[in-house]
Amino acid sequence: MTQVIRASAQLRDKVAGWKRSGILVGVVPTMGALHEGHLSLIEEARRHSDRVIVTIFVNPMQFNNPEDLTKYPRNEARDLALLEAAGVDVLFAPGEEEVYPQGFATQVRVAGVSEPLEGAFRPGHFEGVATVVAKLFGMTQAGRAFFGEKDWQQLQVVKRMATDLNIPVRVIGCPTIREADGLAMSSRNVRLSAEERQIAPALWRAMQAAAEAIRGGADPAAVLAEARVRILSAGYREIEYLEIRSAEGLRPVADLAEPVRMLAAAWLGDVRMIDNIVV
Ligand code: PAJ
Repeated sequence: MTQVIRASAQLRDKVAGWKRSGILVGVVPTMGALHEGHLSLIEEARRHSDRVIVTIFVNPMQFNNPEDLTKYPRNEARDLALLEAAGVDVLFAPGEEEVYPQGFATQVRVAGVSEPLEGAFRPGHFEGVATVVAKLFGMTQAGRAFFGEKDWQQLQVVKRMATDLNIPVRVIGCPTIREADGLAMSSRNVRLSAEERQIAPALWRAMQAAAEAIRGGADPAAVLAEARVRILSAGYREIEYLEIRSAEGLRPVADLAEPVRMLAAAWLGDVRMIDNIVV
């Protein structure tokens, strides 16, 4: 049975009991609308922890676009059934006043890694993410936390934040789960029309082809320019960024000697799609 907890005081008591018995607690933070990507994190959490907490909280602080917040899909009953089937011990689903009570005044800002790419196009987004994740780490007291590589920059921001704030949690990155045609699973994919859904994998396909060409020695700037053309002619409306960056710090890279990542954000109709792959 998955126990549903909404109050952080109750969660704290539950976890304190586990910890007294030496039980290792893993947490998977989510915003709900669960799909196979989330379920893969839960499987990984079950492999690496004795008890698993999944959190569902659609965090207003990280939405820079109010429409994106109101349109965000929510279905707790369906999510709970999936968590039961996945053998999750606790669903922590706090209300907004539990997370941000009257007088709440703190923000966590991670300089450097949170600034480019998503940080540049979604002002305030990573402050919202870092703040809520720091709070979720505090509330769950988990020793392990599982995040998807789907949100690569978020994963790097969370790792930096946990290290910098001495939070005793090991942050573990898990591979991106994709549909059969390569589209990265995302809660926002349900907002794509049938036609857009057909177009959607073109982003990943162009990135894959570009990464392969670069690995084969082609000039990265020329290859990325060509990939942009392919993405737009497939039917994407606008590319916000398509870049190669250092894998951990997300710094611009002069050569490809260090580990690098290709990251992209692009609009398909009114849905903002992101993806990233190894180069
Ligand atoms: P959400 O978008 O619900 O994602 C929750 C976790 O699932 C994140 O770690 C995300 O990277 C991972 N995930 C999403 N799609 C995935 C996929 N296709 N394959 C593998 N993992 C995937 O990310 C958030 O929520 C929020 O920002 C949160 C961290 C919960 C803070 O509010």
